[in-house]
Amino acid sequence: MTTHIARLEAIADLEALKAACLRVFSPAEGEQVVFGEGPERARLMMIGEAPGEQEAESGRPFVGNAGRLLDKYLAEAGMDRGEVYITNVLKVRPPGNRTPRKSEIKEALPFLLRQIELVHPVILVCLGSISVQAVIDPKAKITEIRGKWVEKDGLQIMPTFHPSAVFHDESKREGLKRDLKEAGKRLK
Ligand code: URA
Repeated sequence: MTTHIARLEAIADLEALKAACLRVFSPAEGEQVVFGEGPERARLMMIGEAPGEQEAESGRPFVGNAGRLLDKYLAEAGMDRGEVYITNVLKVRPPGNRTPRKSEIKEALPFLLRQIELVHPVILVCLGSISVQAVIDPKAKITEIRGKWVEKDGLQIMPTFHPSAVFHDESKREGLKRDLKEAGKRLK
């Protein structure tokens, strides 16, 4: 792990970081590493949990149902997916879409942190508790901190609900929409 981190600091661009992820993470047969996508210097970066089935198949983050909902709410918040850098804490799909294990998060986190440094956004939006706990605080409770700006390492971070968590919950849906609007306003 220490050697990984030392090597990651020496990685100077996203392409090289993606190549490192391709070497380190092993997707299941027929699946791909999902590194993330978006403008190299996006001002807003969104971080989800882990690729799902469609993401692992296509190699792109948030392209399934949760992604379509996210695109819709981004548009309602006056943002375009094309201006946002989107990635996940984990770069490969956990088997059967189970919740990522602590060991998987620990292994993936240095790559995510280097990715954040290289994109160098102004605003981060953490989608769901895996992302919130990985990036902000392992003890954070999503229900307590969502919707409240957090300042950390020079970044303004908006913790919010994961789009998959809002499908059947109107109050969470409104919360996610509101938080994305807040993030959109800060970008302007
Ligand atoms: N859920 C996530 O957290 N990330 C994706 O890319 C898709 C679904």
